[in-house]
Amino acid sequence: MQDDTYELLKRQIGRFLDLDIDAYKQRQMRRRLDTWVEQNSSGDEHTFVMGLGTKSDLLKDLRDTLTINVTEFFRDQAQWADLETKVLPELMADTSRLKIWSAGCSSGDEPYSVAMLLDEAGRGVTSSLLATDLDPGSLHKAQAGGPARQALYFREDGGRFHVVDTVRRRVEFKPLNLLKDRFGTGYDLILCRNVTIYFDPPVKAALTRRFHEALRPGGYLFIGATEALLGSESDGFTRTSGNFYRKGEVAASRVARAA
Ligand SMILES: C[S@@+](CC[C@H](N)C(=O)[O-])C[C@H]1O[C@@H](n2cnc3c(N)ncnc32)[C@H](O)[C@@H]1O
Repeated sequence: MQDDTYELLKRQIGRFLDLDIDAYKQRQMRRRLDTWVEQNSSGDEHTFVMGLGTKSDLLKDLRDTLTINVTEFFRDQAQWADLETKVLPELMADTSRLKIWSAGCSSGDEPYSVAMLLDEAGRGVTSSLLATDLDPGSLHKAQAGGPARQALYFREDGGRFHVVDTVRRRVEFKPLNLLKDRFGTGYDLILCRNVTIYFDPPVKAALTRRFHEALRPGGYLFIGATEALLGSESDGFTRTSGNFYRKGEVAASRVARAA
């Protein structure tokens, strides 16, 4: 599409979907939107983009295109083994009440995976498990609790698998835009996996600092298998294993001095 049409589309997305496209990686975003406009418009692209505000089906489809919702249970198994055998036992040794947040949870496979591990960890540990996403469609699916693939913790209903209620009840789903909304504090564990890969590097760095603030000292940030905290992003964190970063008290005060 022409540059002026793209600029108009960005404004329309801001107005009708409340999404700031400039925060995302530009080349990737442009490619995705070029394809979307090409596939959905017949005739003049500028006129098509201009008229988007009144077309709720197209706006919903556009939102789905922008918020890539791919997810799966226990995505990247080796990392989940680390969570189960190292990180959770360590956190549970510190506190009997865990405060956990899955940020960018999509349709819920990630927080439900955590809920299953907590369920297996057994009695003596209570937890609050908050799961948030920008996309209302994904949250709706998540609250319905399925359908899903894993055999454990699912019940079959008419050929579809649903997460059992004991797991569902452990998770509280809420809409939250990571680029705009306020975060809670005092988290023992924050999962933000395969979300910031779509963000512009300075936006990712700012978000990482906000996660640091939201964690309690000694709390963990768990990121995706292909991700890393680069350069000063890791200030105040110690990389423990794989994609786990622990908030350290000493390094945290260094960050506070630098701010
Ligand atoms: C690829 S999914 C990752 C899901 C899950 N964390 C995982 O790793 O399986 C990315 C999710 O990030 C969400 N997302 C994108 N931008 C966001 C924002 N600004 N605030 C909150 N969530 C956002 C999308 O809606 C989508 O559900």
